[in-house]
Amino acid sequence: MTVLLEARHLKKRFGGNEAVSDVSFAVHEGECVVIAGDNGAGKSTVIKMISGVYTPTSGDVQFDGQRLTGKPPEAVRSAGIETIYQDLALADNLDPGLNLYLGREKTRRILGLSFLDRAAMRNSAIEVLKGLGIVIPDPSAPVRELSGGQRQAIAIARAVHWQARLVIMDEPTAALGVPEQRQVMALIERLKSKGVGIILISHNLPDIFAAADRIVVLARGKVAGERRPSETSDEEIVRMMMGATL
Ligand SMILES: Nc1ncnc2c1ncn2[C@@H]1O[C@H](COP(=O)(O)OP(=O)(O)OP(=O)(O)O)[C@@H](O)[C@H]1O
Ligand SMILES: [Mg+2]
Repeated sequence: MTVLLEARHLKKRFGGNEAVSDVSFAVHEGECVVIAGDNGAGKSTVIKMISGVYTPTSGDVQFDGQRLTGKPPEAVRSAGIETIYQDLALADNLDPGLNLYLGREKTRRILGLSFLDRAAMRNSAIEVLKGLGIVIPDPSAPVRELSGGQRQAIAIARAVHWQARLVIMDEPTAALGVPEQRQVMALIERLKSKGVGIILISHNLPDIFAAADRIVVLARGKVAGERRPSETSDEEIVRMMMGATL
């Protein structure tokens, strides 16, 4: 399997606090790597160093043979990594189409002037969502009126539409009801089958075991261990999260 992403010895210090001390892992094409760990273990900080939100204090990020360390979020996105943050990076006041094209808007020229092509963006949003089996009742309504699952679906649709090769999701099902959680998990499978690599952050053990090809457990800013679901158990993962020596 081809290696897509390699994070090597990532470290992040905030003032005197070392949020991440030493984290290394790899993601292959079509593979879902779950990063598990207790609150404050450093999970979000790790993915923000990959997506370009934070510059690592030290360490290195390689993606598809290219060094991404310290590159800004736009450069990371254009390299093919789409990140769906814990707090969902959707613009609440805009419709799904404008959210799909956020930062990369379609325009139309009329008499030499440039206008946002809202209709074209809305139509392609409807198409992409339909391809994922999702129907949004009113595609012209702002996304704040959508359910948590529909919002997640739009964030995932954005990754599909822009042909991301790696999708990072920080707790995508945390705020969702059970049917919506299932929908997000099904979308993850869909992405994997297209060869997209996934980094999934989750606290939820059933989700972790259902989605993961590999589980990387973080405890206090370090990798406590790495397991395949078939070679471990809930109890062992929890013990590793708690930082117990094995
Ligand atoms: N911007 C920041 N400035 C200072 N400290 C931070 C910052 N971001 C995170 N931290 C600290 O770094 C540590 C790791 O935080 P992080 O958000 O990465 O944890 P997490 O594993 O994502 O937790 P959760 O499961 O609660 O989302 C915590 O102690 C947190 O307080
Ligand atoms: Mg977090």
